Formats: sequence, structure tokens, C-alpha cells
Amino acid sequence: MLKCTTLWQQGEHRWLAFGQDPERPGNVIDTNQLVVTSDAGTILLDPGGIEVFPAMVAALSQEVPIGSIKHLFFSHQDPDVSSALPLWRQVCGDDLAVHVSWMWTGFVSHFDRNAAFQPIADPGGDVALSPAVRLKFLPAHYLHSCGNFSVYDPKAKVLFSGDIGAALVPPGEQTSMFVTNFANHVGYMDAFHRRWMGDGRARDKWVAMVRRLAVDILAPQHGLFFHGDDVGRFLDWLETLPLGSGCEAYDQASLL
Ligand SMILES: [Fe+2]
Ligand SMILES: [Fe+2]
Repeated sequence: MLKCTTLWQQGEHRWLAFGQDPERPGNVIDTNQLVVTSDAGTILLDPGGIEVFPAMVAALSQEVPIGSIKHLFFSHQDPDVSSALPLWRQVCGDDLAVHVSWMWTGFVSHFDRNAAFQPIADPGGDVALSPAVRLKFLPAHYLHSCGNFSVYDPKAKVLFSGDIGAALVPPGEQTSMFVTNFANHVGYMDAFHRRWMGDGRARDKWVAMVRRLAVDILAPQHGLFFHGDDVGRFLDWLETLPLGSGCEAYDQASLL
């Protein structure tokens, strides 16, 4: 069963995180599915791929009526983010709004061309779950996808960062949903960021943008969440990291 953690709550406005399923097949990369509820509707943030869909529906329905889900958000187009789209539409209905970068609507349509896409423009935008619960879509382009967004909740002070901050944590180390030893945690996210993140200019702009926000919890789609002072530690670490390690392969390629 997927573990459900409440990250923040004020009445019906809740941030829930689902992840760390002990029954997950080892060859399917571990994902966190984030859920924001309100008294008028629910949004799923990176709701996960086909392989985690059955476990996710089962765990989610313990917490939230499936009929209350009005929105899906995809930080980008990857299959671990978006491949369960047609399955979610089967259980949620045709009026489910699907928020994704304008760049990817035609591509994600290969999973489900009848979905009600609401393309997100490059500067981002916002979505109101209820009059009191508004979330902001913030640019995170090139980190790693070229059409990529983070989600910020100014009231809860939670930032969902998609693949930024992702870590591949061995199951034996998953004792909490939160980072407890930052220095140790760097070892689980270092190689991922060097290779998957390609653009230092985008990284600098994203870090500067996030520093202007009040963030209590930074929640990535893979691995553990950063809380309190670890948010700043993560930004300091990311800011100086060399990116684009895949470029070395150009010099290693055999052309003959
Ligand atoms: Fe990705
Ligand atoms: Fe991912």
C-alpha cells in the first residue's frame, strides 16, 4: 500500500503525499504523487504512470472521494508523470481538466486525445480549486523538460518541484518522507541532477525565483521532501552544481 503523508492542513485545504509503496516493482522508478484538496475540488500533481495507477487509486480513495478530483497537473510529459491519463479519465469523468505545458498537449494526446487539456503558457498561471485555494504554476523550463512547471501554494508555503530535487533513495533508507540528513542525501540526488538537468541558466533563474517565495516544504516527484532549513540547503547545493554531464558523451562517441 502506498504511504500517505499529510504535509499541511487547514480545514478542507490539505496537501497529501503518496509514495514509498513497499510492493512497487523494483524496475519501476519510485514516484511521489501529490494531492491538494479544497472544499470545492481536488487536484493531483504528477499523478503517476500506468504501473502505479491501481495502488494510487486504492490509497487515494481512503482519503479523498474520487469524484472530487477536478484537475490533473503534469509538470512535464514524462511517462512516470502522465501515462495514466486515460485511466484517471475513466474514474474521474470527462470534465477533468488536464494542466500541462502548451508544448506537450499534442504529445501527451498520444496517451489520450480526448482529454480536456488546459495548456499552460510559458510564464505559468494559476488554478483556483475553490475561492480560497489558489495554486500558482511557475516556470521550471529545461529542468529537465523544455516545457516544465513547478506548483506553489502561497497559503501552505509548499512548493511541488517535479523532478527538481529528485533523489533515488534505496528502500532501506526510506524511513521518513523527509530528508533527515542533508549531507547524506546529496549522494542520492547528485548524479541525477548532473545528468537530467541540462541548463545552468534556467537553474539560476529557478533558484532565484524560489528564493523570493516563502517555502516551508519543497516536495519533488522522486525521493524525499525538504523541510525548513533543508530547503535553503538544497537551493545552495543546486546553485553550484555542474549540469549537463551527458555532453561528455559527444567526445566519447565512435563515429566510424
Ligand atoms: Fe522527468
Ligand atoms: Fe520524474
